[in-house]
Amino acid sequence: MCGIVGYIGGKEAFPILINGLKRLEYRGYDSAGVALLNGSLGNFKRKGKVAELEDFVNSENCSGTVGIGHTRWATHGEPSDKNAHPHNSMGDLFSVVHNGIIENYARLKDDLVKHGYSFKSETDTEVLANLIEYFYLQSEEMTSEAAVQLALSKVVGAYGIAVLCSREKEKIVVARKGSPLVVGLGDGEYFIASDASPIAEYTSQVVYLNDEDIAIIQRDGFTLKNVQNNPVSLKISNLDLEIGALDKGEFEYFMLKEIYEQPLTIEETFRGRLREDYSEIVLGGLLNVFPKLEEAERIIIIGCGTSWHAALIAEYLFEEYARVPVEVEYASEFRYRKPIINSRDVVILISQSGETADTMAALHLAKSKGATVLGICNVVGSSLARETDAGVYTHAGVEIGVASTKAFTAQVTVLTMIALKLAKRKGSIDIQEYKKLVNELSEIPEKGRIILESDQKIQKIAEKYHEAVNALYLGRGYLFPVALEGALKLKEISYVHAEGYAAGEMKHGPIALVDDNLPVVVVAPEDAYYEKVVSNIQEVKARKGNVIAIVTEGDSGLKELANDVIEIPKSHPAVAPLLAVIPLQLLAYHIALLKGCNVDQPRNLAKSVTVE
Ligand code: AGP
Repeated sequence: MCGIVGYIGGKEAFPILINGLKRLEYRGYDSAGVALLNGSLGNFKRKGKVAELEDFVNSENCSGTVGIGHTRWATHGEPSDKNAHPHNSMGDLFSVVHNGIIENYARLKDDLVKHGYSFKSETDTEVLANLIEYFYLQSEEMTSEAAVQLALSKVVGAYGIAVLCSREKEKIVVARKGSPLVVGLGDGEYFIASDASPIAEYTSQVVYLNDEDIAIIQRDGFTLKNVQNNPVSLKISNLDLEIGALDKGEFEYFMLKEIYEQPLTIEETFRGRLREDYSEIVLGGLLNVFPKLEEAERIIIIGCGTSWHAALIAEYLFEEYARVPVEVEYASEFRYRKPIINSRDVVILISQSGETADTMAALHLAKSKGATVLGICNVVGSSLARETDAGVYTHAGVEIGVASTKAFTAQVTVLTMIALKLAKRKGSIDIQEYKKLVNELSEIPEKGRIILESDQKIQKIAEKYHEAVNALYLGRGYLFPVALEGALKLKEISYVHAEGYAAGEMKHGPIALVDDNLPVVVVAPEDAYYEKVVSNIQEVKARKGNVIAIVTEGDSGLKELANDVIEIPKSHPAVAPLLAVIPLQLLAYHIALLKGCNVDQPRNLAKSVTVE
């Protein structure tokens, strides 16, 4: 949700902190701040973007080689200077940056008020800062890390924190539970961040903290313990993150760059998994669990947002080809619904970030019931990747645009490969059909490049409809989830109220919305549902609705009927979602741009939802 950074070493901390916060700004961008230890504890924070903080602090010309920083996605207290992080304790002994939610903060606050503490902000985090100070002042021998451990033992909720103490100037204490935290090991310097992107340009040696880990970081080294004060072994991982991937290049927005990267990222997701001659699929990461998948009485696929849409497409693929019953679940519902799960179940959890709180809770629940838990994830070293039994990485590269695009097509590519491979192993697919589908999959990148060439045409269509305040997206079969995804993209980045619907459902309600102000986007390539979808388009036209149809190239019939068409190359229906979604991503992008929206950092959203 929020992004936190920290630095201790020989260099000036401020530029490193600001650079890191800019890299993490996709995690939250309503306010930002830094605290620097230089004699005293300097705290500089304000509402707005990191760039505004940078100008503000530069004017204050502060220095220090030990510091922490934060970019915020508000949970408690609206975005403002006083609610921005870092939060100092009442006596200015501690400064804290926090990513997560302290659920019992109100009760802790009441107790602290009884001990004479007062508060400047509405945040849960300031309560933690005062709680740490409260314990620190309990005895002369108390160290800052011991005070942090005591405070955290009282906390209910999720946290990723970094803490400075004005009396212990050569130290940063960090801890996590539920929210991600990475420590970068430099040469006589240490970097702290919510994910690896701010660290990659300084070192490739990192330590991913696990839940309840606490690290005491000093210039000459760092110690890893857990909140119960037991030592924890250090596992150093090698970071493989290409810095160039973190820049927009010639693109105005990361989202457009990531849409254009899809042919390449799908090829990357094929790499080492699709034989050169496209005759076979090899999924080494699942080799040991394929028997479980073959025996599974059902497969439960879980995710949130766009990842949930990928799960819906997988349901069609697994049931049609692997002939295994599939249930698709919203993680936020699954975790509290008291679902019936047993050891013969296989649960697949899909997450771009690998840190989404609801998805992680669903993982823990399924695991606690003995199910086999598999992950499909885009971030190496993320919690989901480290806590599942096995899994497959999508090789989409770092996705910075808050609206997920290339991670979605990479997820669907991986799910298609798993479904086909499982079908072949189970013998539930004819070998010719298998080969044909593997070949169809291999043609997607090239066909994707063809679709990107119609970007300008899609921009023209966006110009026609960018003043609409509502929109309806329709699709059938494999393309119903694509309609949902198209609607989500438009909602997320342009704030237009858009609804995705199964086209067959339109007559049961949504058709009431249709009039000449409503753009209706219909995903209608040639497939088994084509005629039915054409009838749905006629029903919309009969009520003066404006139809934008995604059609198979050369479809003159719909060219006549629809107000606007966007053509996509012909493909097998089972892989058509990978093509049909691209025009919907571009349509949303151009409408948002025309409405003057910040496409990469849409209001109220964040890239990785690490709180409930
Ligand atoms: C999609 O564009 C959104 N960013 C959001 O719905 C996202 O898909 C959801 O939060 C799940 O994120 P995850 O894949 O990282 O778990």
